[in-house]
Amino acid sequence: MERLQKVIAQAGIASRRKSEVLIAEGKVKVNGVVVTELGTKVSGSDRVEVEGVQISKEENVYYLLYKPRGIISTAHDEKGRKTVLDLIPHVEERIFPVGRLDYDTSGVIIMTNDGDFSYLMTHPKFEIRKKYVAKVKGIPMREDLKKLEHGIMLEDGRTAPAQLKMRTVDKKTNTALIEITIHEGKNRQVRRMFDAIGCPVDKLRRESFAILTTHGLNAGEFRELTKHEVKQLRVLAETGKIG
Ligand code: URA
Repeated sequence: MERLQKVIAQAGIASRRKSEVLIAEGKVKVNGVVVTELGTKVSGSDRVEVEGVQISKEENVYYLLYKPRGIISTAHDEKGRKTVLDLIPHVEERIFPVGRLDYDTSGVIIMTNDGDFSYLMTHPKFEIRKKYVAKVKGIPMREDLKKLEHGIMLEDGRTAPAQLKMRTVDKKTNTALIEITIHEGKNRQVRRMFDAIGCPVDKLRRESFAILTTHGLNAGEFRELTKHEVKQLRVLAETGKIG
């Protein structure tokens, strides 16, 4: 059983909020009876009509986008800047980004209309690992990387254990390329972690999201996930292993 407003939103008719308004305005019928109660739950066998038209559940769609730098990863931007949605045109379903990448971060981002799948991919308890490559200013000491590995205190709490690997060091420019794998998505987490050891991030790219990489795509390009990939990602979140 699902809440009525969720079912209407998932059918692609309106946002969750707008669906609530449609219900409150008496424009929604369940099995021929007007329902104005927002908490009403319906099952797949109930017939839901909005303004006299029966709804059907929107197909779930899944895309992998190679987000370039300089693009907002929320679905809408008040300042009118380009968003990740602008990069996947002609999609009728109401897709949204799974988690966020900063304006200046590039790399893998999933776009879908499947809220349950998005929850599985982003809630830290499912431990879906995301690998970033950071170019940082300064050359971190081993102890500092160890600190980040164990977890450090940020203003919104302690970071979970992470994996870090120094890829290259450039003594001339006093910069380093570091691989960091985390399964949380605190706001600007990687940047704040490197700030905490005095090596601010200059460039950041999400190289992989669990089993997905940008392989075969240029920045700004996207592809559909295969059914198999979607299944693998679900199994990974639910069992911690790839089946
Ligand atoms: N961590 C960050 O600091 N920025 C991102 O975009 C993603 C993770």
